[in-house]
Amino acid sequence: MNHEATTPCLLHIDTSVSPPGESVSRRLTALFADCWRRSRGAAGHRYRYRDLAAEPVPYVTADYARFGYRVERHGTVPVDQVAGLVGDAADAGVWRVTLPLVEEVLAADILLLGVPMYNLTVPAALLAWIDRISFPGALLDPETGAGRLRDKQVVVVSARGGGYGPGAPREGLDFQVPYLRGYFTDRGVPEEQLHFVTAELTRAWDVPTMAPLRSLAADSEAAARQAVTELADRLAAGEREEAARYAV
Ligand SMILES: Cc1cc2nc3c(=O)[nH]c(=O)nc-3n(C[C@H](O)[C@H](O)[C@H](O)COP(=O)(O)O)c2cc1C
Repeated sequence: MNHEATTPCLLHIDTSVSPPGESVSRRLTALFADCWRRSRGAAGHRYRYRDLAAEPVPYVTADYARFGYRVERHGTVPVDQVAGLVGDAADAGVWRVTLPLVEEVLAADILLLGVPMYNLTVPAALLAWIDRISFPGALLDPETGAGRLRDKQVVVVSARGGGYGPGAPREGLDFQVPYLRGYFTDRGVPEEQLHFVTAELTRAWDVPTMAPLRSLAADSEAAARQAVTELADRLAAGEREEAARYAV
C-alpha cells in the first residue's frame, strides 16, 4: 500500500487578520497542530498550511458561476474530468485557482480551521475559500453521491471579542459556529467528527469597558487551550488505532 496515501494529513488553515502574535485563533490552531504532530511521533504525519489572510483566495466571479453551472449540467463530474470541460481562457483561469484548493481538502484527513468572528459570522476570506472548495460536484463521490468530506475530522477553533453564551447580551447572535456546523453537516461530515473549540471575550484586554471581564477571558482561553490539546491527542490516538486495525 502507498505509505504517503495512508499517512494522516493535517490541513491547517488560519484566517485572522490580527497583528502578528496577537491572534487567539492562531495561537490555538498552532497549539493543536504542535500537539497532534507530537502525538503522531514516529507514526508519521503529513502537514499542509494555508494562511488565507496573508494569501487570500480570490472571490468567485461571474466566470466561476458560468463554468460551475455548465459543469453542473453534466451531472456529478469527477474532479479529474472537469478540465475536459474547460472551453476558454476564463474557464481555465477559474479551474487553475480552484483545483489545487479542492485537491488539498480531499487529501486531508483533518481540517483545522482558525476562525475569528467578524461581524457575527466568519471572515470573508474563509467564505471565499469555501466557495472555491464547493465547486459543483467537487465534494461529492460521482458514483454514490455521498459527500467526500464524510470521513474527515473537522476542527474549528473560533475566537470572538465578545460573549455569546447563555445569558450574555449577545446570546443568539452567533452566526459563526452554527453556520460552519450547517455547512459541514450539509457536506456529509457526521456530528461526531465535527469539533468546535471557542475562546470568548478576547477584546477584554484592549477595550476599557471590558476590563472587568479579563479574568473570564483568561479562563476562556485557558479552557480552549486545554480542549485543543486533548482533542489533538484524541484524534492522533484514533488514527493510530485505525492504522493498527489495517496493519493486521
Ligand atoms: C473586522 C472585525 C469584526 C469583528 N466583529 C466582531 C463581532 O461581530 N463580534 C465579536 O465578538 N468580536 C468581533 N471582532 C473581534 C474578534 O472576533 C476578536 O478580536 C477575535 O479575537 C479575533 O480572532 P483572533 O484573535 O484570532 O484575531 C471583530 C474583529 C474584527 C477585526
